[in-house]
Amino acid sequence: MADINNSRGFTSNIGAILAAAGGAVGLGNIWRFPYMLGQNGGGAFLLIYIFFVFLIGIPLMMTEFIIGRRSQSNAVGAYRKLAPNQKGWLILGILSILGGLLIYAFYSVVAGWTLNYLMLACGGKLAGKDTQAITQTFTNFTQGTWWPLASQFLFLILTGAVVTMGVQKGIEKISKILMPALFILLIAMCVRSLTLSGASQGLTFLLKPDFSKIDSHCMLAALGQSFFSLSLGMGCMVTYGSYIQKSDKLFKTSAWIAACDTFVALLAGAVIFPAVFAFGMNPASGPELVYIVLPNVFNSMPAGNLFAIIFFLLLSIAALTSTISLLEILVAFGVEELHWKRKTSSIISTLAVFIIGSICTLSFGPLKEFHLLDRTIFELFDFLTASYLMPIGALLMTIFLGWFYPKVEVKDELSNGGKLKVRAFNLYYLILRYIAPLALLIILISGIVG
Ligand code: PHE
Repeated sequence: MADINNSRGFTSNIGAILAAAGGAVGLGNIWRFPYMLGQNGGGAFLLIYIFFVFLIGIPLMMTEFIIGRRSQSNAVGAYRKLAPNQKGWLILGILSILGGLLIYAFYSVVAGWTLNYLMLACGGKLAGKDTQAITQTFTNFTQGTWWPLASQFLFLILTGAVVTMGVQKGIEKISKILMPALFILLIAMCVRSLTLSGASQGLTFLLKPDFSKIDSHCMLAALGQSFFSLSLGMGCMVTYGSYIQKSDKLFKTSAWIAACDTFVALLAGAVIFPAVFAFGMNPASGPELVYIVLPNVFNSMPAGNLFAIIFFLLLSIAALTSTISLLEILVAFGVEELHWKRKTSSIISTLAVFIIGSICTLSFGPLKEFHLLDRTIFELFDFLTASYLMPIGALLMTIFLGWFYPKVEVKDELSNGGKLKVRAFNLYYLILRYIAPLALLIILISGIVG
C-alpha cells in the first residue's frame, strides 16, 4: 500500500486528517447550509441538523473510515476486498462513484461562482452597490453562458492539476493556514452582522426552533445536509479512510472533523441570517442567498472590499479542498480498478464532470425552463444526491458493516488491533446495527411518501 499512498501524496497522519477535514469543510457549510436552513424553517432545521450530525454523522464517518482503512482500497475495491464472495456489494461501490460524479458536477458550478466573485471583488465590482444592484449582478452572471462555463471549467482544471500532481502535501500546508484564517474572518464578519440594526430577528430565526415547521420534508433536508456537509454516504470518507494510518484513533478523528464542520456552518449561519433580516431579504431565496447577502455585509464594513477579497479567496480554497476530495474518489477508482494512469484518470474524470456539470451551469440560463420533477437540472442533482443518494449509500454501508461484516473485525479495526480501549464500542455497534439503519429507513420512506 505504501506506494499507493505515496502516489496519492498522503504520507503523514495529520495530512490525511487535514485532507478529510478540508474535504468536509467547504461550500456545503457556507453556501448550502444557510440556503437549506432558510428554506426549511430556521431554528427547527438547525436542531435536527445537529442531532443528525451527532447521532448518525459521527458513527457513519467512523463506519466509512473502518471500511476504508480495513480494506486499504478505493470506494469500489473496498467491498471486493472485504466481501470477496458477495459481489452484490460492488453496487454500493458503484453508487458511491456515481454520487461523486453527480455531486462534483453541480458543486463545481458554485465553485465557479466563487471564483468569479473573487475576481469581481478584486476588480472592486461589488463595492458600493445596493441590494438590487447586487442581485442584478448575480442574475446577469449566472444566466449567462460563457462566463459561468469558463469559471466552472477553470475550477475543474485547477482541481485536476492539483490531484494529478499529487501535491496534497501543498494542500495540507494550505489547509493548516486556511482553516484558522477562515475561522477568524468568519468571526469578524459575524461581529459585523450581529451589530447591524435589525440583526436580532435573524438570530431568532436561526436559533429559536418553531416546532410546527418540523415535517418529513424538513427531516429529510436536515439529514441530507448533514451528510452533504460531512461528505458521507458516497465513498469519500472510505477513500480517505484508506489513507489514515493504522495508529490513528478513528473515533477521535471523526469527532474532530464533525465538530469543526458544524462550527463553521454555525458561524456561517450567524453571519448570514442577521444580515438577511437587516437588509430585508428573503431567507428562503435558495442557492443565490449567500452570493447576494454577503456583498451587502462587506459593503457595510470598513475596508469591506478587502474583506470581500480575502473572504472569496478563502472560500475558493475551501471549495478546492472539497473538489479535490470529490475528484480523488473518481481518480482512485480509475487508477485501482480500471488500471489507468493517474493523469489519464484525472483527465477522463474531469472531462466527464465538465460534460455533466455544464448542463448544471446552463440550467441557470439557457436551460432555465427545462424542468424535471419540478426542478431545474441543478436543483435536481442537488436534491437527489443529498436527499436520496447519500442517505441510501449510508444505509447500505451500515447494513454492510453491521450485518455482513464480522463484529470482531470491526472491533479490531476500531481499537487499532486491540491497542486502544474502545469503551463505547457497544454503543457504536448498537447505532451501527440498529439505530442508524432504522432512522435512515424511516426518514427515507417518509420523505418519499411525503
Ligand atoms: N462536504 C463538502 C462541503 O461541505 C462537499 C462534499 C460532499 C465533498 C461530498 C465531498 C463529498 O462542501
